[in-house]
Amino acid sequence: MKSLNITTKIRVCDYIELNKMEKILVEVAKEATTRAYSPYSHFQVGAALLLTNQEVISGNNQENIAYPSGLCAERTALFYANSKFPTEAVDTIAVAAFCNDDYTTEPVIPCGACRQVIWETQNRYNRPIQIILYGKKEIYIIDSISGLLPLAFNR
Ligand code: THU
Repeated sequence: MKSLNITTKIRVCDYIELNKMEKILVEVAKEATTRAYSPYSHFQVGAALLLTNQEVISGNNQENIAYPSGLCAERTALFYANSKFPTEAVDTIAVAAFCNDDYTTEPVIPCGACRQVIWETQNRYNRPIQIILYGKKEIYIIDSISGLLPLAFNR
């Protein structure tokens, strides 16, 4: 029997190490948390996308009393971007979260369903999506969704 080893390169950065556009996306994601609708979890998530036409799109989590009807920030932003600019690829997604009166110390990590949607968006436009996950202590940068979803479902 042989084994396959899957590795992911995650760059662990401080805010000051980000370039200008990466800083903008982090700020837009942080600001988007303020408009989250999360009365059940009290966990406010914001996502910011840079599209290839240089548009910056933001989204946040939208909850519902029928819990599964809610949507994460990443998918809110991606579905809106794809609905408004269906010919534009996504270059970068930044994610931040606010809870207990502050932004999270650790980077916020996308759930499995969001990884699948990021993966399909990347595949749809055949262009790697850079992922920036903000935490106060450190920021993770991953060069492609394949790093977070290496064995994606694909017909
Ligand atoms: N949530 C997101 O919006 N994105 C993530 O990456 C993780 C979780 C939302 C879903 C729910 O509204 C709340 O955070 C608590 O799980």
